[in-house]
Amino acid sequence: MTLSPRRPAESAVTMTYIVFPDDTNPLGFLRGGQLLHWMDLAAALVATRHCGRACVTVSVDNVSFCRPINVGDVVIIRARITRAFTTSMEVYVHVQGENPIQGKQYQATEAFYTMVAVDSAGKPIPVPPVQPETPEEQAMYESARIRRLFRLFLAGRTRIDAQDLEELLNTLRRTTSEIQRRAQTQHQSQAQTHSSTGTHSSSR
Ligand SMILES: CC(C)(COP(=O)(O)OP(=O)(O)OC[C@H]1O[C@@H](n2cnc3c(N)ncnc32)[C@H](O)[C@@H]1OP(=O)(O)O)[C@@H](O)C(=O)NCCC(=O)NCCS
Repeated sequence: MTLSPRRPAESAVTMTYIVFPDDTNPLGFLRGGQLLHWMDLAAALVATRHCGRACVTVSVDNVSFCRPINVGDVVIIRARITRAFTTSMEVYVHVQGENPIQGKQYQATEAFYTMVAVDSAGKPIPVPPVQPETPEEQAMYESARIRRLFRLFLAGRTRIDAQDLEELLNTLRRTTSEIQRRAQTQHQSQAQTHSSTGTHSSSR
């Protein structure tokens, strides 16, 4: 069977929920378990769309609950595949909270889900590769190999050798210089916008 590459945009999902009292802890914040469940649904949908097969979650890592989400706020979950390996796929899930009355959005949570495509007997089956398009997708695609290496290492499923460590450092260097380059470009374009509109900060 030929597995043609697929673009991340073809399977990306955005899911939106409202936090009701039933979803919260005694402090009135969205429960972490409820949020992880919603994120898992988003990741499963992305993986299923990407490969057109049933998928199961095999691991979740780098979960960061940066900020609590209040009852009554909106939860916006964006999930996108970063890379596919043989039978597994890494899905990046990013969560924003929104106070719909004030119209303010804030970053709340992010995580990497690893999903595996399975047949009707639950046995892993091959999935199509990912074809990244944008510079961000390309960076996520490249760094996915390193995240997978550490994930499998921590799960006791692989070893990390000197060549892997060398590649890790090279990937980090590339990613860091790309982030710095983009930040500088953004800074320059903001400075140009300010000078063309006449806005500037005063030292007085
Ligand atoms: C997912 C599952 C089918 C994998 O079975 P397995 O016997 O470990 O199969 P394999 O060793 O061939 O691994 C399959 C893939 O999972 C990956 N994998 C296995 N354990 C992993 C872990 N802890 N973290 C990340 N990836 C993992 C392997 O690297 C492999 O990926 P690849 O084919 O792209 O290289 C099996 O572990 C399972 O059924 N787990 C329970 C899933 C579940 O119930 N989830 C919750 C409900 S959806």
